Amino acid sequence: MEVLEKRISLAQLPTPVQPLSRISGDLDGPEIYIKRDDLTGIGISGNKVRKLEYSAASAMEQDCKVLITCGGIQSNHARATAAVAAKLGLCCHLVLSGSKPEVPEGNHFLDLMFGAEITYAPDIDLKGFQDLLDEIAENYRSRGMKPYVIPLGASDPTGSLGYINAVREMIPQFMDLGIMPDHIVCATGSAGTLSGLLAGKSLFGLPSKLNAFSVAFDSSSIRNSVDRIIDGLAKSYFPGLDCNSSEIRIFEDYICGGYTRTNQDQLSFIRKMASLEGVLMDPTYTGKAFFGLAQEIIRGSFKKGESVLFIHTGGVFGLFPYRETIQEEIFSK
Ligand SMILES: Cc1ncc(COP(=O)(O)O)c(C=O)c1O
Repeated sequence: MEVLEKRISLAQLPTPVQPLSRISGDLDGPEIYIKRDDLTGIGISGNKVRKLEYSAASAMEQDCKVLITCGGIQSNHARATAAVAAKLGLCCHLVLSGSKPEVPEGNHFLDLMFGAEITYAPDIDLKGFQDLLDEIAENYRSRGMKPYVIPLGASDPTGSLGYINAVREMIPQFMDLGIMPDHIVCATGSAGTLSGLLAGKSLFGLPSKLNAFSVAFDSSSIRNSVDRIIDGLAKSYFPGLDCNSSEIRIFEDYICGGYTRTNQDQLSFIRKMASLEGVLMDPTYTGKAFFGLAQEIIRGSFKKGESVLFIHTGGVFGLFPYRETIQEEIFSK
């Protein structure tokens, strides 16, 4: 596993695994545990930093001077990339979908604090993102600065090494706690986290079943992304890696109309988690996924007597831009 050592240490690892006894009792279902990847750091927080430990190592190895990436205006990945670049003394250029807000909020505010240069791109699709990233990279090259382009969510084989490493980290934690979760659950977007977990499960013989709650895409496109990343991992790092997306259970009933969309039930649940467990979740990723998990416990997809590990992938700064909606929908009712 020499390849797992080719990382720059940026995250506070290992992140804790903790029991969520109050919400477990409230739902009267399986024992729920949480892996606190929201505690990987402050600015450099969440799941993205695990991926960026490998992407940044690859950039430094190639002597690149600027990290370029893209995402939504509240992208956690973009913010984590900006923080990592600042820490490593690299430049950072972000392409963010949408128009420039009058007042920067949440992650976007932090992008600016970390000194990232931002190109705002209203009405952009995935192909548009790629074209713009290529154009910006070319521009840096022409100025003699070697760029390193990190794809959306750092969800490529290099980035997903971060979650293979996370599986390696978790197994002794489970031993210490005397548990072996029947299920591991996470939110999924660009699927790099999930792909790393799947590859790690296969490489380290983790018996837990993988479950993913989609925050935006239908299950077939998530399976395509996972299989593409697994293929890349096999080609570049682990010849003989033998796993595929059919081993994952994907839930797509909680997307709630699309990326960043939410509703009163999800927001109330996020509030409940905060007040029962002191754990903050955001409406775009972890709150959506944990809400889905709670519903699926009620539906019987996860049973009493089983144990579930939920990976908290971070995203707390994405909660703040929803404060007016939360005020209207929750506090004033
Ligand atoms: C807080 C949070 N959780 C989960 C995810 C999903 O991770 P992935 O894109 O690897 O599926 C993201 C991605 O941006 C995220 O920011």
